[in-house]
Amino acid sequence: MFFSSKSVDRHLQQFLSLNDFEAAAKRHLPRPVFGYISGATEDNATLSDNRAAFDELGFVPRVLRNVSQRSQAVELFGVRYESPFGIAPMGVSALSGYRGDLCQARAAAAAGIPMILSSAALISLEEVNQAAPGTWFQAYMPQTFDAIEALVDRVMAAGIATLVVTVDSAVVPNRENNLRTGFKTPLRPGLRLFMDGVTHLPWSVGTFLRTIWQHGMPHFENATAHRGEPLVSRHANRDFNGREHLDWEAIRLIRKRWSGPLVLKGILHPDDARTARAAGVDGVIVSNHGGRQLDGAVSALRMLPHVVAASEGMEVMIDSGFRRGTDVLKAIALGAKCAFIGRPFNYAATVGGLAGVAHAIDLLKSEIRADMGLLGVNRLDELNADYLRLKRFELADINPAATEAARRALAEAIGEQLSHHLQEHI
Ligand SMILES: Cc1cc2nc3c(=O)[nH]c(=O)nc-3n(C[C@H](O)[C@H](O)[C@H](O)COP(=O)(O)O)c2cc1C
Repeated sequence: MFFSSKSVDRHLQQFLSLNDFEAAAKRHLPRPVFGYISGATEDNATLSDNRAAFDELGFVPRVLRNVSQRSQAVELFGVRYESPFGIAPMGVSALSGYRGDLCQARAAAAAGIPMILSSAALISLEEVNQAAPGTWFQAYMPQTFDAIEALVDRVMAAGIATLVVTVDSAVVPNRENNLRTGFKTPLRPGLRLFMDGVTHLPWSVGTFLRTIWQHGMPHFENATAHRGEPLVSRHANRDFNGREHLDWEAIRLIRKRWSGPLVLKGILHPDDARTARAAGVDGVIVSNHGGRQLDGAVSALRMLPHVVAASEGMEVMIDSGFRRGTDVLKAIALGAKCAFIGRPFNYAATVGGLAGVAHAIDLLKSEIRADMGLLGVNRLDELNADYLRLKRFELADINPAATEAARRALAEAIGEQLSHHLQEHI
């Protein structure tokens, strides 16, 4: 889409929440491209649980607390960020939005929030980090130790500060939705691609052809130390396989080579967080990959308190299903430092470019600012589990007095027994 800056502003005013970007992106994108972004795996069980978990938690706000000094700033690895959320790594973002990753990275840098560039991006990590210093980089580990070390060296030479290694992708998941819509990378030139282009002209001209005219055929730039396959190819195959033999030894190898903050993305089990800590990892992102890997994997939010308890000394971050300021604050109350968000920022770059992503960030910042005031806190570290409760009645809710009386009677009975026991034995 092409817009003048005034019409961009007017165009963006219709988006009042992160969810609003999805419908516009769906209209704008060819079905396979939209399906690739929105999709999950198999029956979308994990995708659904990612939302259901938020709905099971309610807030118990506090009042009359003088909330005039609110700050949503947070520190991660010695860097101050203006808000406790960031942009999750998403492959091929420059296919949906013109220079999508750059829009996401620049808008994030301008707003003072973290953005993680994907291993499967079509723009090189060097270019993105130059345009938006401070961008984090996400790696899928290449197949061999030599190739892993070469990639780490490249990332270090580019001046990237924070390395995120995604560990929930040992094998290729069953993305049925991509088969149904015909999405595949590299894209195959043919009648179908042509028809998608003809039926979605603003995207074909404004994103696809514009990219090729101005920057040449995009390639997968960051999977290894070297440039990868082209985006459109009749013959090339991207090799997603070959990672299944990797284990914690690979993480220990990276830890030896990489001196900056090292984060593992895709942790759900607290024991994996413990192992990460023992391997010298600095932070984890509790994540089920937005429901795009193992269908039926539990919501990241449900595992968050357990991972927090096991992560002493490591920063705990989270992603998967976050859409609202209230979602982010629920995770903060359960011990997360920061929540990452994927799809909505991809859609925002698709329909609004840099201004679209900036607008999406502003929306979420404003929500968090208002929500903090309504919760009765000035700082994020004031939030804890006391501000939350499960949204279902317990016996104690229905008759608190009776429950309190029963509790006292029990305490007295135990006390009596104890003193009786002491009198007899001392
Ligand atoms: C289109 C798309 C591409 C993605 N590509 C990657 C990737 O290359 N590397 C990665 O670690 N995660 C990738 N993810 C997962 C996200 O980083 C993140 O875990 C997930 O999107 C969070 O869920 P949400 O979209 O519900 O916010 C991708 C997600 C989407 C939607």
